[in-house]
Amino acid sequence: MNRRDILVTNALPYANGPIHLGHLLGYIQADIWVRFQRLRGHTVHYVCADDAHGTGIMLSAEKAGITPEALIEGVRQEHHRDFQRFGVEFDIYHSTHSEENRVLSGYIYERLQAAGKIATRSITQLYDPERQLFLSDRFIKGTCPKCKAPDQYGDNCEVCSSTYAATDLIEPRSTISGATPVPRESLHYFFRLPEFTAFLSDWTRSGVVAPAIANKLSEWLQGGLQEWDISRDAPYFGFEIPGAPGKYFYVWLDAPIGYMASFKKLCEERGLDFGAYWNAGTPTELWHFIGKDIVNFHALFWPAMLTTAGFKTPTHISVNGFLTVNGQKMSKSRGTFITADTFQDHIDPQTLRYYFASKLGATPDDLDLNLEDFLQKVNADLVGKLVNIASRCAGFIHKGFGGKLAASDGEAALTLEFQEAAAEIAANYDAREYAKALRLIMALADKANAMIAEKAPWTLAKNNPQDPAVQSICSSGLNLFRLLVLYLKPVLPALAAQAESFLGIAPLCWDDAGTILLDHSIKIFAPLMQRVELKQVDAVIEASKSSLESAPQDSPGPLAKEPIAAEIEFPDFAKVDLRVVKILHAEQVEGADKLLKLTLDLGADANGKPVTRTVFSGIKSAYAPEQLIGKLSVMAANLKARKMKFGVSEGMILAAGEGQEIFLMTPDGAAKPGTRVT
Ligand code: MSP
Ligand code: ZN
Repeated sequence: MNRRDILVTNALPYANGPIHLGHLLGYIQADIWVRFQRLRGHTVHYVCADDAHGTGIMLSAEKAGITPEALIEGVRQEHHRDFQRFGVEFDIYHSTHSEENRVLSGYIYERLQAAGKIATRSITQLYDPERQLFLSDRFIKGTCPKCKAPDQYGDNCEVCSSTYAATDLIEPRSTISGATPVPRESLHYFFRLPEFTAFLSDWTRSGVVAPAIANKLSEWLQGGLQEWDISRDAPYFGFEIPGAPGKYFYVWLDAPIGYMASFKKLCEERGLDFGAYWNAGTPTELWHFIGKDIVNFHALFWPAMLTTAGFKTPTHISVNGFLTVNGQKMSKSRGTFITADTFQDHIDPQTLRYYFASKLGATPDDLDLNLEDFLQKVNADLVGKLVNIASRCAGFIHKGFGGKLAASDGEAALTLEFQEAAAEIAANYDAREYAKALRLIMALADKANAMIAEKAPWTLAKNNPQDPAVQSICSSGLNLFRLLVLYLKPVLPALAAQAESFLGIAPLCWDDAGTILLDHSIKIFAPLMQRVELKQVDAVIEASKSSLESAPQDSPGPLAKEPIAAEIEFPDFAKVDLRVVKILHAEQVEGADKLLKLTLDLGADANGKPVTRTVFSGIKSAYAPEQLIGKLSVMAANLKARKMKFGVSEGMILAAGEGQEIFLMTPDGAAKPGTRVT
């Protein structure tokens, strides 16, 4: 067998949100392939990083009141932790905001420039005059020029699906500051992509992508390529372009170079040869695993950049489709926008690896996580079929034979069938046809179970626990189990490790399919996997719903911005008389930016007389008056009245947050106005 030397990358997740099950699909797909190739004895380096640049991250950091560097490092660690929990084991998890990437991006850019592939010209874009930055389409909203739907983004309308330029929007506004954007000119840097049309037409047809992807690419190529705008004006979180002060590389310019940068760092850590994996003409392989939404970046811009800069182009780009949950796009309100963190709180991550693998092929089709099917499949296959073999056999070996397997195989024909299946299973893994591989493996599991059921060692053991036939059947059963564990090892690495220790064997590699255990001592069997119960799935959905309103995980919590105040004694707290109130009336205050005028019902006094208060509250940015009328809330009722510009405020109602993220505090149910809150 030829030994392969492979560098594998996964798309670099944006450092502005948590890893969710949709992301995990492509990472689990790649990780299975990496583990499989290593089991076969090939050398694989597997790298990833967070994609840390861009306006979005700059703004998130600003909002959180921290530096972008602090923000991206926190998120990077969270992402890395999530991947590890799902068994996705990178050799390195770096960041695109690294010195290695700065150097490599500068180098590649200079090579592009030296080759005459960079053009400059002035373009006009919308500019936020208040926040003083250029606005990309997703930071502009306005009324659709076609169907007049309000509140549409700068490039397309979600109501009538028409596409347009942001400058065509009616009454456009910046979603950052609310200001009306103004057109403004500035010098931009472009990569001359159209000059690569012939090269890319050949390259994309050379087997580097699945045929469906090649077809899509050929549509784009035939439609005519455009020059690619690779610069952004300050302020921007990224790398400044060498020799162009105030101009930054667009995030997608340095993102794929981040693959190289991560590997560069790994080379430094492990003494590997960087050039052996990147220089043109080297015999090593370069594999990228990505989702279908980012094909243009990887199969057009990236090979054009690489080849111009003297590097080799990818050996293969493996593209995954999109994940849906219960047949629909992941949805926060349905509780199907499930983060990696929430899932692993309730369910063994390996079950997700198994489910994805059982549905994955090499084509970029969307994949549905049907939660009922998920439960059924992982319980039936993993617990009912796989683990069952070991749990049925192990006890008898310990009871009657001191934990020792038989000296010969009584089921040699069946064992041989299992061993001969290794080649076809391997071919399917190698071709990323995991669903096919798993179907073959489960068909074998059925055969092992059928053999055991037919020979019924439990009946024999009842008469004589030391009947040699019992040892023979159960030893064969455990040997078949060992082969199944080996075949599933790329998908279920943690289960395989447990099984290896139960069987008392060294870590399995693919060639071990040729051997069996004879006269061999095993350890005590402990359950290798539990059934997943419906209530665990329900808990995931519930937790995903309730995280809906919580702070996004990309930014550090509000505590970072406003630490908890100095400690107080209980009597200090008790001085504040908090009461339930009902909002009787709410109205705009002329000339006030933030305030609404509220009339509050505080219940009745000792004489049964209704008590009301007038309060000015700074919640206008988040609530319209009509939304508030009739709502219950909580007020500080003994706060000294304050004379304000617009009138006297007789207390305060409680709300959390600021800006458009203000949340009025309301009692959980129909508490009576006037009730003391303690
Ligand atoms: N930062 C870019 C990639 C740069 S690579 C040089 C990016 N990041 S992402 O966080 O949006 O996506 C990371 C990966 O997850 C991409 O491969 C993307 O296609 C994939 N997916 C994101 N949502 C997905 C689903 N719902 N389903 C399947 N894959 C999904 O794109
Ligand atoms: Zn429209």
